[in-house]
Amino acid sequence: MITVGIITASDKGYAGKRIDKSGELIKDIMVKNKYKVVKKIILPDERELISKELINMVDSENINLILTTGGTGFSMRDITPEATKDVIDREVPGIPEAMRAYSMKITPKAMLSRSVAGIRKQSLIINLPGSPKAVKENLEFILPALKHGLEILL
Ligand code: MTE
Repeated sequence: MITVGIITASDKGYAGKRIDKSGELIKDIMVKNKYKVVKKIILPDERELISKELINMVDSENINLILTTGGTGFSMRDITPEATKDVIDREVPGIPEAMRAYSMKITPKAMLSRSVAGIRKQSLIINLPGSPKAVKENLEFILPALKHGLEILL
């Protein structure tokens, strides 16, 4: 079974001021699709904390697929794509390109997501936007192709 780690980047979520609906939704969707969710955490929008956890999930916990949610927009605290770029060996531009192209059919605001995806060692890291609606739309769209990519990577 492919293992999955989930990171919610949210200052409010980390402070307990907002329920982590998006992280829970990712977990539900992945479990439904027969992935094994082994870890789910909430972090504040801090570049170093997010990149350190990404490294930990890949290098120490050998998690195959890491999905982040939140922190991809224009707010001055949105830093998830930069934290991801800090730790990946190879970028996978096609995944965020496809998410934005598909999502643009739903809302022009999709162009505001700065999300990136990339490979560190044998793990794939993908940034999803923050809202549960955006999570569901993007994740369900990429899932069919994802399986094939992970089979090649592992
Ligand atoms: N993608 C889809 N499919 N559906 C959406 O509703 N919302 C957008 C975008 N991507 C959205 C979407 C909005 S409003 C923003 S600001 C960006 O994702 C970034 O979101 P984030 O800052 O929560 O990461």
